[in-house]
Amino acid sequence: MENRIIKQAEKILERMTLSEKIGQVTQIPISEEDIDTARDKIRKYKPGSVVLCGSAFAGNEEQRNVGRRFLDLLQREALRSDCCGIPLMFGRDVVHGHKVAFPIPLTMVASFDFELIRKCYDAIRLEAAADGINWSFAPMLDYCREPRWGRIVEGPGEDPFIGACFAEAAVKGFQTEDPANEGTVAACAKHFIGYGASEGGRDYSHTEIPEYQLQNRYSEAFRAAVNADVLTVMSSFNELNGIPVSGNRYLLTDILRGQFGFEGFVVSDWDAIMQMARFAGYAKDIPDAANIAISAGIDMDMACNSYFNCLERLIKTGQLSENILDEAVLRILCVKLKLGLFENPYSPDISYSVEEHLNLAERLASESVVLLKNRNGILPVSGNVAVKLCGPYADNATELVGTWSLDWDPSLINSIGQAIKNKMPEVKVMPLSNSRAYRQNDMEKADFVIAVLGEDRCMTGEANSVSSLCIPAEQRALLNGLRKSKIPVIGVLCFARPIVLGEDIDLFDAVLYAGHGGSRASEAIVDILFGITEPQGRLPFTVAYSQGQLPLYYNCFPGARPVNGYYGEIDPWFCNYADCPDKPLYPFGYGLSYTEFSYSEISCKTPSKSLSELRRGEKFKLEITATDIGKRKGTAVCQMYVHDICASRVRPLRELKGICRIDLKAGESRESSFFVGCDELGFYTENGEFRVEPGEFDIYIGENSQTENKFRIILTGESF
Ligand code: GLC
Repeated sequence: MENRIIKQAEKILERMTLSEKIGQVTQIPISEEDIDTARDKIRKYKPGSVVLCGSAFAGNEEQRNVGRRFLDLLQREALRSDCCGIPLMFGRDVVHGHKVAFPIPLTMVASFDFELIRKCYDAIRLEAAADGINWSFAPMLDYCREPRWGRIVEGPGEDPFIGACFAEAAVKGFQTEDPANEGTVAACAKHFIGYGASEGGRDYSHTEIPEYQLQNRYSEAFRAAVNADVLTVMSSFNELNGIPVSGNRYLLTDILRGQFGFEGFVVSDWDAIMQMARFAGYAKDIPDAANIAISAGIDMDMACNSYFNCLERLIKTGQLSENILDEAVLRILCVKLKLGLFENPYSPDISYSVEEHLNLAERLASESVVLLKNRNGILPVSGNVAVKLCGPYADNATELVGTWSLDWDPSLINSIGQAIKNKMPEVKVMPLSNSRAYRQNDMEKADFVIAVLGEDRCMTGEANSVSSLCIPAEQRALLNGLRKSKIPVIGVLCFARPIVLGEDIDLFDAVLYAGHGGSRASEAIVDILFGITEPQGRLPFTVAYSQGQLPLYYNCFPGARPVNGYYGEIDPWFCNYADCPDKPLYPFGYGLSYTEFSYSEISCKTPSKSLSELRRGEKFKLEITATDIGKRKGTAVCQMYVHDICASRVRPLRELKGICRIDLKAGESRESSFFVGCDELGFYTENGEFRVEPGEFDIYIGENSQTENKFRIILTGESF
């Protein structure tokens, strides 16, 4: 944090009374209150911030849209001299959109296009800032390989590299290059840390994560957010290895600040402080919880007023040093100064083009659709065809915006049925007599069936975990009926979470995994179905054959025998399961195109380098040529994975360390380079030491995590 900022903050702090300081570390909820009631709350609490939502389950509740006028009136109240004179931060869950809903994060990262994602968050920022929001509780960065957990959809999935790319893109989108610019929104890296490991996928449940995994998987996205200068972090609900994160100084201060270098402030999750006393049995009462939390490094209390009600007494009875409160207030003041709130506390006068944002949303949604199956190349559907459109989401225009869509504008959204009529008027769309069930006489004269299946947005997100990851029975019954008609069935899967498809995949001739694609999901799906755009999405998670295989993830460890659930030849002596295939149905990074790509062997002019050369910043340069060998243009999403053959810790069989998106015309070839240095070859030990060790590394470059196109490099010299 710049000295200039710190000095300014110290001057403000010196003038503050104890009650004003306690107000600054308090965040109060305001949602449906009228303006007078809201203003009374500002005068009573003199809060540092307002959380604009009505409950901890805001992700799936209808919320009053925020408006700049209302927020400016609250700001004016806070700035009155007889209040606290310090500008408020207005926090809102702008997770993947505001008026225009972009795809939910787990869908959007399937694009593997992080420059586009940054542009989309820049657009999201404009919309939020125009409504007076200056703090978003996003990006959600929880590493997760547990599809039963409803919140897996809010984050970047099972890969740390994707998580880091997503973190940087979202933080830069919200905060721009300088958070003091007009119209910036403070980002919030959440939920720090380990929430995605909730046992059994049950939200809020116990988490147990070994330090080695915490350092190398769960931390990567948060390191990237800190390196992108994220201004705030939200602590997570979960207790980790026996200590609630919200009371864990080792995590919130030693790791987050000491190891990662975070300089902003930490806000608790909703009621998370109080929960240490009420549920976790970690604090004996609320005052004790407040003392533990602020001493651990929670600078602001979201919604439970534990600081407001307890800190004064804790300080006056000597149980808590006022210096700890001062540190927390100073961090909050520094963030507000960095955001330029003292100079520009009110809603900025910015305008934006909804049409432009819708186009961005459609492009991102389109790039995020993953083509999993295309038997006999029946896709794209072209020309004058008659399609039977069915399934519970064929004519639904709201479920595809996804969870945590609080301010979206329903007038901007079409159903898939409507989108086909708008974009493909020549296509004859024949609905089933019952879009959810099959009738024999429904199927005459149709060339194709398009079955749009999926899950409601309120089946995902917070407090919405599921025990079954299969296609729901009613939808499977529809598929079984359709199968009898012998007409090709195209499945459009609008499941936000990863589901398992082993038992159902043969019911489809083609499958698009479309996730919850936001306001322009339908148009994006139609673009791909009819070949207006090419499918280029790649799976940011594993699609297992059966849920009995879980947990199943691509960056797995070798195991004690040649069995690992993901790679290698099937060995009759060492199979994973006697009753199920050994591998996933579709691996991480997988996705088909309407064309085909071939990749050359990997070349590298300097296959051997020393550690001292890498320490000086040199890198291995690996080159590969991708060729479009099909009849259509397409985008090859070339992925580079690293495997450390032998190290002082067991290393994953593959780790994604590079992505290169290559647009190619039919027949065109293009060379691409990947660079491998310390960042790509090193790892963290359980105590957070970053280590690069000499030895041999296999570098895989190809279509997805199971590519066997590899090149071995050698790193010589002494570890450091
Ligand atoms: C919720 C969520 C968190 C959200 C906050 C405010 O409980 O856990 O992600 O930002 O409360 O809505």
